[in-house]
Amino acid sequence: MAKSVLLICLLGLAFAFAAADDSPLQDFCVAQAGSSVFVNGLACKDPKTVQANDFSFGGLHLPGNTSNPVGSKVTPVTVNQLPGFSTLGISMARIDIAPWGINPPHTHPRATEILLVLEGILEVGFVTSNPDNRLISKILQKGDVFVFPQGLIHYQRNTGFGNAVAIAALGSQSPGVITIANVVFGSMPHISVDILAKAFQVDKTVVSQIQSKF
Ligand SMILES: *[C@@H]1O[C@H](CO)[C@@H](O)[C@H](O)[C@H]1NC(C)=O
Repeated sequence: MAKSVLLICLLGLAFAFAAADDSPLQDFCVAQAGSSVFVNGLACKDPKTVQANDFSFGGLHLPGNTSNPVGSKVTPVTVNQLPGFSTLGISMARIDIAPWGINPPHTHPRATEILLVLEGILEVGFVTSNPDNRLISKILQKGDVFVFPQGLIHYQRNTGFGNAVAIAALGSQSPGVITIANVVFGSMPHISVDILAKAFQVDKTVVSQIQSKF
């Protein structure tokens, strides 16, 4: 009896720690670009051919170009940019936001995100899942850290007069991004206007107008 309780506790712990990608089964598994082998993730390079550059990425000192309709630019460093991230369960990004620009509401299906503000002032927020849908938001200053729990819809807005710069760390080598507006109104082919009009409780012309922007 005591043994089975212990086993259940251990299983519970195992699941609690499985909030990020699975643990590696070797020192590293540097992703091999162009491999035709499909595994859950990416194929590994021969460890003997691995170089320091496989574990490195340069360029995050460069500001992203924020001249776009939302006024922000995310520069990702995932396993696609840094093959050494493969199987390690982490990645990062630089986020540049122009004054009053936004990083629009989005979610990472596979990762919790920690955000560190390096420059400027950011309003950040996330919304809890159904049925509460509570907005949890805060104004962040330089040096502040905020966490967006895995899967929840979140955003950032620069509420200052200068450019804002933040660094995000994510608990997956490939966190994925679902940008709500683009996914809902910009899918190809489009989700039927009838469906979106009913879902958003607006006239079909409003849906068509939004769809035309994406
Ligand atoms: C930034 O992006 C805009 C719009 O795409 C482009 O016109 C402009 O040349 C870019 N600026 C730089 C410095 O690359």
